[in-house]
Amino acid sequence: MSTALKDQFGRSIEYLRISVTDRCNFRCLYCMPAEGLPWLPKAEILSYEEIGGVVRQLAPLGLRRLRITGGEPTIRPNLEELVRLLRAVPEIEDIALSTNGARLPELAHRLRDAGLDRINMSADSLRPDRIAKIARRNLGFDPATSALAAERAGLAPIKINVVVMRSINDDEIEDFARLTLDHPWHVRFIELMPVGEMSGLTWEHIVPSDEVLSRIASLGALAKDGGPPRGNGPAEYYRLAGAPGTIGVITPMTHTYCASCNRVRLTADGRLRTCLFGDHEVLLRDALRQHEPLEPLFRQALADKPKEHALLQMKVGGLRALSQVGG
Ligand code: 5AD
Ligand code: SF4
Repeated sequence: MSTALKDQFGRSIEYLRISVTDRCNFRCLYCMPAEGLPWLPKAEILSYEEIGGVVRQLAPLGLRRLRITGGEPTIRPNLEELVRLLRAVPEIEDIALSTNGARLPELAHRLRDAGLDRINMSADSLRPDRIAKIARRNLGFDPATSALAAERAGLAPIKINVVVMRSINDDEIEDFARLTLDHPWHVRFIELMPVGEMSGLTWEHIVPSDEVLSRIASLGALAKDGGPPRGNGPAEYYRLAGAPGTIGVITPMTHTYCASCNRVRLTADGRLRTCLFGDHEVLLRDALRQHEPLEPLFRQALADKPKEHALLQMKVGGLRALSQVGG
């Protein structure tokens, strides 16, 4: 009889982030160089059926919640087929999608119909010229239009992630916070992490979350809040008086939350990674393709899940981009 998966520090793994591609239609400053990255060969990318196989084998061991990530997941054709297949696994209670939002106006309904519960959308600016500068692509992405499309499709709660960069978009902190006064959206400010290529970003561009919160306090008092339902992550939440939405901060740089880390990641090429940082991973793909049981590999991966990451001790540029490891 299988027992629930737990790592050596007693953290159980109920939450899996699934990267479906390492490619993206954006080239965000903090994520990828303008020319892109050496992409994974197609033959190494797991098919939807193979991803379903991993989830079906992890579910009886305690897996309950999923997040589909990339790269940009919505550029993989027929993503709704994967959602439908994952929705059919009875143990799975919650399926979320992390997206840059550009294709949501077109896809939100299809994804909802296939069984997607909710989305996290990235938006680093509300100004078209600046969006194009940060993403280095002009796809006509308008964050409010995309969030509204998701809301109308019935995806809820809606979370909007803002990576704050000093002198690049930090003058929009208050504008983003104001969105929560008009919409039931949860705007989360993320501290820039020194990973991947960084395209000229340095430690000086990091804005600590305490500073973000004190700037927002100029709009009115911030009360501590439980945040949106069904959160899995490390955000801390606040609410402006009378606001339908909440304001969150995610602080990879100034606080560590590794002790409560409940997640593992499946990379697009079928590796199970137990920490975003460092090289803690086990290749599942070969076993999957040879129809061997995955459970021994799950246990091996978990035995190697580190107690905490060493991000603060690492040098800028020394780590893989989040698009390559599944955010
Ligand atoms: N620093 C902080 N957040 C990042 N993300 C990607 N790269 C970084 C980074 N260097 C996160 C952001 C972005 C999402 C796609 O991944 O939340 O919105
Ligand atoms: Fe694409 Fe997300 Fe990376 Fe931006 S942060 S380039 S949207 S994967």
